[in-house]
Amino acid sequence: MIILDSITYKEIGAFIREHSGICLEKIQEKGVWERIERHIQSLELQTIKDYLFLLKSPCGAPIRDGLMAQVTVNESFFFRNPGQFRYLALDFFKETLRVKDRFHIWSAGCSTGEETYSLAHMAQWFHKRHPETKFFIIGSDINRQSLKKAHLGSYRKRSWRKPSEDLFKEFPLPFLCEHPKNLEIENQIRQMVHFKYLNLRDLESLKCQIGWDIIFCRNVFIYFADAFRTNLVETFHQLLNKGGMLFLGETENILNAPGLFELVRCGSAFGYRKIEK
Ligand SMILES: C[S@@+](CC[C@H](N)C(=O)[O-])C[C@H]1O[C@@H](n2cnc3c(N)ncnc32)[C@H](O)[C@@H]1O
Repeated sequence: MIILDSITYKEIGAFIREHSGICLEKIQEKGVWERIERHIQSLELQTIKDYLFLLKSPCGAPIRDGLMAQVTVNESFFFRNPGQFRYLALDFFKETLRVKDRFHIWSAGCSTGEETYSLAHMAQWFHKRHPETKFFIIGSDINRQSLKKAHLGSYRKRSWRKPSEDLFKEFPLPFLCEHPKNLEIENQIRQMVHFKYLNLRDLESLKCQIGWDIIFCRNVFIYFADAFRTNLVETFHQLLNKGGMLFLGETENILNAPGLFELVRCGSAFGYRKIEK
């Protein structure tokens, strides 16, 4: 049985940072070490050198995916940080409708899809009042297991919390069907979204992602190294359309990217509007 030592843990940590931008030190969750160790043991390899070799080899994608599934933090719930969703439905879509009726929305680091479906809900709410609008919505993530769950659209009750309840009352629409053990996304909402694998660290793939009106990248930056965050903010700026907006998590900000975005108050929350260069 392979036991993980601190030198190898450091080496794997350096690989994770290079591959995904995630710094293991920034993950507060307990048990990351144990999860990585169990993942290595499940592969039934002879030595830790075999593992490191495979991890870094061109054919090591399944191993890299397995590792990512162990180290990513997947916590999410519907309508998290409601002020941002409220702002979209009551302000952003309405203002933007003066110049166009197609909206491209990207939930980057969507985890199991609660955020992406919440965006679809707000889009659908607006569409009912403005049938000329069209929405293209995707959710992307580096964790393929989370993406599978997102695609299924079937949730435990813990994905539905107090903020979800409050916002939902304000913007009612068929959204979830309640079953004895789970909540399932309504077909109409499900059909509005697409999910795909995308590593935010992969700049070549990111460059194909141009033309967004809204980018939600919430509670993803907190795990990244500072230099990578700055790069990503610059990239998001390039990928957004004129007047497009970036939304981060409640505890995140982009203070170190002056001249790229202006801060927009969204009730009790914030968003960042692209400044044209
Ligand atoms: C805490 S969840 C946030 C989910 C959702 N955005 C929210 O705020 O409720 C963080 C997500 O970021 C994803 N992530 C981390 N590093 C990533 C990367 N390099 N590329 C794409 N997704 C990444 C993780 O897999 C995880 O699903």
